[in-house]
Amino acid sequence: MCGIIGYVGTKQADGVLLEGLERLEYRGYDSAGISLFDSDSGEFETIRSVGNLSKLREAVGDHERQSNFGIGHTRWATHGRPEEHNAHPFRSPDGKITAVVNGIIENYVELRAQLEAKGYVFTSETDVEVVPFLIDEAYNGDLLAAVKACHAQLEGHFAIVVMHTDYPDTMVGIRRQCPLVIGVGDGETYIASAIAAFLKWTKTVQMIEEDELVVVTPAGTRFLSLDSGELTREAMQIDWDEDAAEKGGYESFTLKEINEQPDALENTLGERMRHGMPADLSETGLTPEDVKKIRHVVILGCGTSYHAGLVGRYMIESWAGLHAEVDLASEWRHRDFPLGDDTLVIGVTQSGETADTLGAMEKARDRGARVLAVSNVLGSQATRVAHGTLYTRAGLEVGVASTKAHVAQVMAFAVLAMWFAEQRGSMEEAEHQVVREEMERIPDLMRVMLESEPWHESIREVAERFHNKEFFMFLGRHIGLPVGLEAALKLKELSYIPSDAYAAGEMKHGPIALLDDDTPTVVIATDSHVYDKVVSNIQEVRARGAVVIAVATEGNTEIRQHADHVLYVPRTRNELMPLLAIVPLQLMAYHIATLRGANVDQPRNLAKTVTVE
Ligand code: AGP
Repeated sequence: MCGIIGYVGTKQADGVLLEGLERLEYRGYDSAGISLFDSDSGEFETIRSVGNLSKLREAVGDHERQSNFGIGHTRWATHGRPEEHNAHPFRSPDGKITAVVNGIIENYVELRAQLEAKGYVFTSETDVEVVPFLIDEAYNGDLLAAVKACHAQLEGHFAIVVMHTDYPDTMVGIRRQCPLVIGVGDGETYIASAIAAFLKWTKTVQMIEEDELVVVTPAGTRFLSLDSGELTREAMQIDWDEDAAEKGGYESFTLKEINEQPDALENTLGERMRHGMPADLSETGLTPEDVKKIRHVVILGCGTSYHAGLVGRYMIESWAGLHAEVDLASEWRHRDFPLGDDTLVIGVTQSGETADTLGAMEKARDRGARVLAVSNVLGSQATRVAHGTLYTRAGLEVGVASTKAHVAQVMAFAVLAMWFAEQRGSMEEAEHQVVREEMERIPDLMRVMLESEPWHESIREVAERFHNKEFFMFLGRHIGLPVGLEAALKLKELSYIPSDAYAAGEMKHGPIALLDDDTPTVVIATDSHVYDKVVSNIQEVRARGAVVIAVATEGNTEIRQHADHVLYVPRTRNELMPLLAIVPLQLMAYHIATLRGANVDQPRNLAKTVTVE
């Protein structure tokens, strides 16, 4: 996916666009560009570059420009290699139209052939260059009509922002599944893929709904339906603080966000599980009667969000007494299955934009299931597809490798499972109270870890010893398995070291063949009903010469007989253990990546949100 920003107002547009793109770099960063309306020449100046935004900043230079209007784009390549000629913005042949696009134009091959037959000469290998050409072909003085004509021919999912020299202070935008949001200023207006792009200047936003057109000027925004009906759209105030988009003194967003996890947990828990009060989850749109009717729960997500779902399953099963299955959204959406209104489908997605998760949620909704989104972004597409939303309140997450959003998702599942338990009477009140109090302790337990220098030193020691290794194995059993899976993903994403995570009981069925002398093997060995079996697995891998790094519960000294390194976490209930056990492994991945010189905030080939299938 990519990042879009547009600005019309009184500021110097080049500075606004560059700063806004820097806030969007997590969305894609293999090339970037801006188009500025030059009021002297009456033309667009388009500057594009390959590589991260520092290259674009160099190309833009710091000379004075007379330009208060423009659009910008930072790209994560899908069609066409990351090269300058494939970077946005694209323009019409006469240069009067300039456009930026996020998403995929699925029927671009036939559109390109039609346009080439009419004499259009393409300058890129991208799918999106058809957009300015289609608008150019339809343009007869009415930009809005031309954009609508272009939109009617497009298949796929996209967000588009267009400008024309005939209307220099106007941007026209339209979206289908890919996000686009308005930032409301005083005599200036922003449009962007994400609020972070303009958060520095305004916290007043207006959401753009599916297949809506917007006409954006410094005075404000008109919202129109495809049949050009005028729509009203309330403005909302965002409560993210502006330094959310800053590193706050940390060396990276990723490290900052690892350290923000206690706050993310506290905020997600919020007032939802107050002492001695029934939980209040009316925000989910589910009534107590709806909850009682649920017979099956299906949890869907991708990547780290999928791993949060794997933890959530255990909570829902053991506390709410409900059967829950978890699947990768990209797989589940292609399965054929019966679904009814006694099934709750939970789409867990930090961004609320992941194409596969949205596709799966739409299919579940269309098949008659009740759909709940667990998302971190206000008004994201997932919250529109679902019947209701349980928001994680992790705040803006910039690091591509998800950390605080992950633990917030797990806490959201804990809250949901406890609320289900209350509504379904599946837990004794006394036990319910014990679990609630333990949930409230977790943020402080995490703070104790994060504030302990010896604890950090034990992690750095592991990173120092193993950062040159070419393979890691992660093992976990029961609720320890999702921790292993998530830890392996963090290591892969951040350090590019090949890593595998397996159910510990699965080792003997093949994967143990991967182990040789001093293969670093991380084992989730916290106190639980499966601890003894995990210790047996540790002995099996050590017998093959592997070196064991165990994550264990504070106070367990016995584990030192079995492991070469021990990373301790505070004692808590087994269902809540993943919230704590993942933290040392996030930091282990982070330190290894840093030692290997990797770009931890923007790992190669990745993007923060995958809006393509
Ligand atoms: C997480 O570290 C990864 N960047 C990735 O797996 C991510 O979790 C996945 O793409 C899902 O994103 P979402 O939560 O925004 O849907």
